[in-house]
Amino acid sequence: MLPLYNHDAGFKFTESPNPHWKYGESIDVTLLGQEWAEGEQKGWKHVDPATENPTALYQLMTSGIVPRPIAFVSTISHDGVENLAPFSWFNMVTHDPPTISISCSNGPERMKDTTNNIKSGNGFTVNIISVPFAEQANVCSINAPDNFSEWAVSGLTKEPSLHVKAARVKESAFSMECELFQMVDIVNPVTQIATTTLILGLVKHIHVRNDVLTERGTVDPTKFKPLGRLGANGYSTLGDGFRLPRPAWKTEQKDVEEALKEKADVKAT
Ligand SMILES: Cc1cc2nc3c(=O)[nH]c(=O)nc-3n(C[C@H](O)[C@H](O)[C@H](O)COP(=O)(O)O)c2cc1C
Repeated sequence: MLPLYNHDAGFKFTESPNPHWKYGESIDVTLLGQEWAEGEQKGWKHVDPATENPTALYQLMTSGIVPRPIAFVSTISHDGVENLAPFSWFNMVTHDPPTISISCSNGPERMKDTTNNIKSGNGFTVNIISVPFAEQANVCSINAPDNFSEWAVSGLTKEPSLHVKAARVKESAFSMECELFQMVDIVNPVTQIATTTLILGLVKHIHVRNDVLTERGTVDPTKFKPLGRLGANGYSTLGDGFRLPRPAWKTEQKDVEEALKEKADVKAT
């Protein structure tokens, strides 16, 4: 029996794991780092993707590349059949031009409805899933026939888009209206089979709910409650977070060089 979902688990910013870390310092200066390094005593498993069983490779990669953001993609076919499905091989590509990527695997006989619909040029929306509608979103991964719209079974609400024919998900606090930018067939070099279609979408409009925004106009993770994807049907919620500023060479150069010199001096003695 699993424990009940913890509705009280909230997100907060904490200190970083080792706020006293200095340039060049190895991980064994903290207990956490020492324990992590000790894990290596169990050795390594080395995997050659060329010879690994494809299912095992899928399981390994989808459980190792985590947590993944999830695109909840709404599309509409030539004939007006609406489709809604989650995709976690998804990310932001750049903000200039605002571009996202989604990757859809192809079946042996047919592409996914999402891929076909996006090809038809009616645009699509990418909606971010928040915890309160995890079940409603997950059900949309059902492998229903082509002419079945997942909207009805999901219990979610269609909201007309401004720029594209596909609706957006009203319950999503962050939705992007997208147009197809480029589709790339991912072809297995050995079998020559186009196993997957990489879809690049140009973001034409973003809808974001005011109640998840900070005063600075960014999305507040404490309020957004985004779902992430793990391996083996797993989902993740946000645990606590911490901020680490990106070091700038201009201000840090002196400290970096001093720390590295100190390290070299210690080694030499
Ligand atoms: C959380 C989650 C993430 C998923 N990510 C992907 C993905 O990145 N690529 C993919 O091809 N299928 C993915 N799937 C499976 C699709 O959602 C599923 O095949 C769906 O039926 C496709 O719908 P469609 O044929 O209506 O487009 C995912 C399923 C779930 C539940």
